[in-house]
Amino acid sequence: MSAPIPAQSLPVSPGATDLRDATDITGRTPRRVATEAILLVGGKGTRLRPLTVHTPKPMIPAAGVPFLTHQLARARAAGIEHIVLATSYLAEVFEPYFGDGSALGLHLEYVTESDPLGTGGAIRNVAHRLRSAPGDPVLVFNGDILTGLDIPALVATHRRSGADISLHLTKVPDPRAFGLVPTDPDGRVTAFLEKPQTVEEIVTDQINAGAYVFTRSVIDMIPAGRPVSVERETFPELLAAGAHLQGMVDSTYWLDLGTPHAFVRGSADLVLGRAPSPAVPGRHGERLVLPGARVADDAKLSGGTCVSEGAVIGSGARIDGSTVLAGARVETGAVIKNSLIGAASTVGARTVLDGVVIGDGAEVGPDNELLAGARVWCGARIEAGAIRFSSDQ
Ligand code: GTP
Repeated sequence: MSAPIPAQSLPVSPGATDLRDATDITGRTPRRVATEAILLVGGKGTRLRPLTVHTPKPMIPAAGVPFLTHQLARARAAGIEHIVLATSYLAEVFEPYFGDGSALGLHLEYVTESDPLGTGGAIRNVAHRLRSAPGDPVLVFNGDILTGLDIPALVATHRRSGADISLHLTKVPDPRAFGLVPTDPDGRVTAFLEKPQTVEEIVTDQINAGAYVFTRSVIDMIPAGRPVSVERETFPELLAAGAHLQGMVDSTYWLDLGTPHAFVRGSADLVLGRAPSPAVPGRHGERLVLPGARVADDAKLSGGTCVSEGAVIGSGARIDGSTVLAGARVETGAVIKNSLIGAASTVGARTVLDGVVIGDGAEVGPDNELLAGARVWCGARIEAGAIRFSSDQ
């Protein structure tokens, strides 16, 4: 893995409001409103397997750096200084990479669950590391969301509304795959609805976008020491008990990077500059080639393709909207689209990949054709010309 990006190379995004400069509800007194956050990074990332076999989802490189770097950099740019990482699955890899967070201008702490406690249990489990007073706002982020959310605006909404918890909501064109979060005209959450099964059940296009502000004391109301889902348990139960949950719709860039298709899209959008992050290690454009990668002069990289350290791209290869991880080899004339090529894997000459994940260390021989959702497991070996989705003539 590459070294952490020095903090001085992470400018505050243009237009970003620093939380420390936010005003109170009277609009008069500048004061500190939220300087700490919890990042949930302990999930198993099953939808992303085999990429998550050796690497937890937040540590998979997107646009050349572990995805978590983008979230940490955005949080820092918004003025957050103290972040507690709630780890569980492959917990041991986070601290050696990010350390105390000082390279990013942050103070990072790590709390590991020996058995996964779910999203709510993880939040409760790190409560003892928070420094906020009972009435202070504490930010909570899912560790797999790429978004341009206006973080200070969410905190301002929380303060203005006096809510117990405020949620970032985003609107999606097809909400069938998501739990729905309808709100009243004042933005107050009225229900948490399971994934709609019928058209009648689609009562809103607003979904939970995975970023919250909790009033510090509310975190202590989550049961300790057992698995709890914040989405399925904490939020609906608090609502039923009369708590005030406020929604803030922010329809900026938003992507849940939980699936291979979404992860590749997110990485490409970061490279292209469509997704906001102060941590992309290079200029925005069609391609991002990290130091130590070798790309043949006549290879064509486009659509936000990222080639990591030590990767080698052979003559005449064409790669579009894809991520090639460290030490991978793409041989002569291979054609790759919307795919994720795992670390130290090989894609043979003239092989065609579209919408595919190649696990770490896998070898796909020459003249194969893999399409639409194929996942080649870590270390697997596919012989030359063994798999096609079309005739070879
Ligand atoms: P899938 O298995 O593919 O659904 O991914 P996931 O395990 O990451 O689950 P999901 O996407 O629902 O998790 C949302 C966020 O919560 C992610 O950032 C996870 O890392 C995090 N998360 C989920 N479960 C736990 C847990 O038990 N403990 C901790 N600390 N974080 C969790």
